[in-house]
Amino acid sequence: MPKVTKAILPVAGLGTRFLPATKAIPKEMLPIIDKPLVEYAVEEAVLAGIKEIIFITSHTKRSIEDHFNRNYDLEEKLNQAGKKESLKKINREIFKDITFTYIKQKSQKGLGDAILQAKHLIKDELFAILLADDLILNNPSSIEQLINVSMENKCSVIGLSKVNHDDIKKYGVISSLEINADQNLFWLDDIVEKPRDNPPSDLAVFGRYVLSHNIFKYLENLDPGINGEIQLTDAIRLMLSDYPVAGYLYEGKKFDCGSKEGYVNAITYLAKDILDN
Ligand code: G1P
Repeated sequence: MPKVTKAILPVAGLGTRFLPATKAIPKEMLPIIDKPLVEYAVEEAVLAGIKEIIFITSHTKRSIEDHFNRNYDLEEKLNQAGKKESLKKINREIFKDITFTYIKQKSQKGLGDAILQAKHLIKDELFAILLADDLILNNPSSIEQLINVSMENKCSVIGLSKVNHDDIKKYGVISSLEINADQNLFWLDDIVEKPRDNPPSDLAVFGRYVLSHNIFKYLENLDPGINGEIQLTDAIRLMLSDYPVAGYLYEGKKFDCGSKEGYVNAITYLAKDILDN
């Protein structure tokens, strides 16, 4: 089975919860201390063996492209000043052989529509999706865990997290009758996007997926779902009738940085190391 080498990062969202900070800066570029949020997700993907990062972006997100491009002026100045450590930070060795591709999503029609924009770049293969808003700190990383499970079981795998009853309506939620509890592996029999009432479980989709290319068949003709958006969850639900999909409950510290609370918690958590030293 071919390795998972491509990752899609949808970054076209408006970031209205962080206005006015996100008026001129994409929410993915907000810093978690000294590194933008999006770089955590890119780093996670690259360290898990991903070779091509496909951003689904919009015309207001130019600075994400700038961030992953070389900045020769700054490199030259840092070089002249002998600032080797700073140079390593802006021109990271691990990103040297990575292909960065940018696709503009014409209108914001939802996560499913964003993923569909990359159809022509995905062949007959499994590919990763990372939602940069969800910062997950663990080793091995969450996407590496999902890639391993998907290669072992030769199927699509969705990252899961246990979420409390009051918050579960903000997420995609799975139901599963067949559980391999030792491995934290759940075979899905259903999945619902943002259930208004009666969530099928406390297991929420949390920011990471490894999906089969078959998902595009279901995305292509999908009607808008909740909030009038083309939902990736709805396509996964349709795919379930034809292909097995697993959910994997991964360990690790998780922060929903799409919310102010999660963003502040992430910074506070990582700041401890700085304050303790
Ligand atoms: C998206 C997905 C949802 C998932 C969530 C967190 O929702 O549609 O299924 O649970 O990310 O990863 P959003 O937060 O974009 O509304």
